Parts: sequence; C-alpha cells; structure tokens
Amino acid sequence: MKILAFALYIIFSTAQNACSPYKCVTTNMNVNKDTCFYFNHTDEAYWIQPCPNATVYCPVSYNENSPIQCEAAVKPTKQAWPGEKCTNNDNCLPGSTCNGNICVGKTVGEACTDNSDCNPQLYCGANKQCQQQILAGKTGCTNDFMCVNSALCNYTSGQDPSKARCLNAYSLLPGTIIADCPVSGINPLCIAELCIQNNGISYCGDKVVSVNSIPITCNSYVDCMSLTDRFVGGYYYSNCSCGYNADASAYCELFPGDQPYSRYLTLKQIWLSSQEVNLCNTERRDIGPCMQNYFADYVELAYQYLYVSIYPKIQANTDCVKEVMNTNFWGLWQKIVDQDETSSSLLRIISLIALYFI
Ligand SMILES: *[C@@H]1O[C@H](CO)[C@@H](O)[C@H](O)[C@H]1NC(C)=O
Ligand SMILES: *[C@@H]1O[C@H](CO)[C@@H](O)[C@H](O)[C@H]1NC(C)=O
Ligand SMILES: *[C@@H]1O[C@H](CO)[C@@H](O)[C@H](O)[C@H]1NC(C)=O
Ligand SMILES: *[C@@H]1O[C@H](CO)[C@@H](O)[C@H](O)[C@H]1NC(C)=O
Repeated sequence: MKILAFALYIIFSTAQNACSPYKCVTTNMNVNKDTCFYFNHTDEAYWIQPCPNATVYCPVSYNENSPIQCEAAVKPTKQAWPGEKCTNNDNCLPGSTCNGNICVGKTVGEACTDNSDCNPQLYCGANKQCQQQILAGKTGCTNDFMCVNSALCNYTSGQDPSKARCLNAYSLLPGTIIADCPVSGINPLCIAELCIQNNGISYCGDKVVSVNSIPITCNSYVDCMSLTDRFVGGYYYSNCSCGYNADASAYCELFPGDQPYSRYLTLKQIWLSSQEVNLCNTERRDIGPCMQNYFADYVELAYQYLYVSIYPKIQANTDCVKEVMNTNFWGLWQKIVDQDETSSSLLRIISLIALYFI
C-alpha cells in the first residue's frame, strides 16, 4: 500500500529538539526585582521572575533573547469600530460617531479609505465607496473582507475575480478542491480548516487526529503524525515546538480532530453562522472586541483558540510562566473555571428543585 505523506504544517528541519528550559527565579538568586525575563548563556535556561506589583508588567514576547525589564502597565486606548459598543464619540474610531451606544460609520455610497470606515455588512470597494458585502455563492471577490461575515473568498492571487466566489466558512467537505492552500495548511473554507496541496491542486483535508494520545512530547516532526486522511489518501505531520517548561520539552501541535481543536472549530462555526456576526465590521468578524460585544460564548472561544494555537507552550507551565509568559491564556482559563463553578452550583440548585417536585 502506498501512503503519501504530505509535508504540510512543517518546515523540515534536521535539528533535534533544541529547546531551553524555562525556570523561576528564586529570591536567593538576587536578581534585580525589575528584571522579569532573561536568558542565561551559561546554563542555557530562560529565567523568569514575575514583576513586583500590578502597576507594572513584563513586556516579553515569544523567543526573546535579551533581558526584559518590567514596564509601567498602560491601559491600551482601544477604539471601537463601526458596529461595536461605545459610550461616547471618543470611544469610536475617527470618522464614526457613538449613536445609541453603537459606533456608526459610513453607509452605502459614502466615501471611504478603508474597511474600518464602513458600517457592518459593507466593505470599502475599489471605487472608494462603502458597498454591500458579496453574498455567499456570488462571484467578484478578491479577498475575504469583500464577502459577508459568514463567508470567505475562494480566490488565489492572479485569478480572474469574476470567477472567484464567496463561499460559507467551514462549509467544504474533505476532498473538495479550493483555490488556495497557504503554507500554514489552514483554510477556514474547509470544515476541518486543514488543507493540502498536491500536484499544484489544493484540497480540503479531513478532521484527522494525532496517532498518539495528546499531549505528545517530541524530538522532531516525525513524532507528530496524524492518522490517515482517507479523503486524500495520506497522513500529515504537525510541528514539534518548544514548550515553556522546566524540562526543555517540545510538544506536537494539534490536528483538527484532536478534541480541543475540534471544540474550537465548532464554536467558531456557531459564531460565524450566527445573526450577531453581521453586527460586526467586515474586518472584525474574528476573535476580538466585536465578538466580545455580541457572542455569549466569547470567553470559551477565545480560550479554545489560544489553547489550539499555543498548545505546546501551555504544557507543564510553572506558576511564573503562567503569570509572565502566557498571561492571556491562563487569565481566560481562570474565567472558564469560575464560570464552571457558577454554572455547576446552579445545576445543583436546579437538581435540588427537581428533587422536590418528583
Ligand atoms: C512550524 O514551525 C515553523 C518553524 O518554527 C514555523 O515557521 C511555522 O509557522 C510552523 N507552522 C505552524 C503551522 O505552526
Ligand atoms: C547562570 O547560570 C550559571 C550556571 O548555572 C550560574 O552560576 C549563574 O549564577 C547564573 N546567572 C544568573 C544571572 O542566573
Ligand atoms: C511597583 O513596582 C515598581 C517597579 O519595581 C515600582 O517602581 C513601584 O513603586 C511599585 N508600586 C507600588 C504601588 O508598590
Ligand atoms: C474554488 O476555486 C477553485 C479555483 O477557481 C475551483 O477550482 C474550485 O472548484 C472552487 N471551489 C468551490 C467549492 O467552489
């Protein structure tokens, strides 16, 4: 039997796991209290120390090599886009106004320079006027933002746009031909997000799962194999990525059929096919402030998204890593835990009531 292995998702690299451990600074090390992150070239470890108080934070980004000092936490001045909630005009992007607690931008036919100028369900067209988004099933798109929020453009650069169609997101079955599969191996037109390119043709993949049970520690991508995708007759490898743990372990990235990923896809699909997604500007349909305004399951979706996208980095985190490196993820995790506690105590009350009525 011939099995095709698609080299997707991965950059082939002969290097074995060359990860460094992430360790917590202890008080007897006498590290300056304002240094929150540094690499020690002698022991080849990253050292982490949470900042002294909540007025400062550690501006560390992934794979930092020079020491990082705690900085004053500034509240980011985020401005709401057309469609998003506001209390006064200053909350809205320049050019939109706060009307009935919603930022209102330009309407059909009004002049625009960017999509951000236009109201929900519109985009800034080639004629620099806001115009209606293209419906799913209709042609004429060259990018996703031209399509209604529930749809994406099946287009590859250089193609004749009069033939490129807006199609519902997460609607295409495994094996369906699509216009483009980016190097990431992700195309959200496909039900499983996974796509592959074979002999110059792009296909949607299936919801494949990892061969081994997750989490999988790895030395290279060959440890990160999926089960066979029966629609494309091959299997996939995922990246073996360094984690943020004290053992310098690397972990395999997830496949779309692995449970957390599968849950993320389901929630994303629920949001994109909801009525509420149409309340967002065309560029704000994804995880972010607009979804937070209108989607009841925002916290869970944001959590699942991070879970899937930084999966190797959240494994075996020590407390200092949770606090300094993966602040957003563990913050959302805490919110989920708190919600679960509230809802399970509610459930206990309900079952108690049910007991009385039997
Ligand atoms: C896999 O790892 C390579 C190298 O670190 C990176 O450039 C690429 O974006 C990763 N791919 C995915 C899908 O995470
Ligand atoms: C770096 O590591 C070496 C070897 O373990 C150790 O002696 C030294 O104190 C460390 N320095 C810092 C600043 O952590
Ligand atoms: C918080 O820590 C910073 C940095 O060490 C320090 O400058 C500041 O005075 C501290 N603030 C409080 C309220 O302790
Ligand atoms: C997507 O576009 C490609 C290239 O134009 C085309 O071959 C394919 O049939 C389209 N897919 C769907 C589901 O319409």
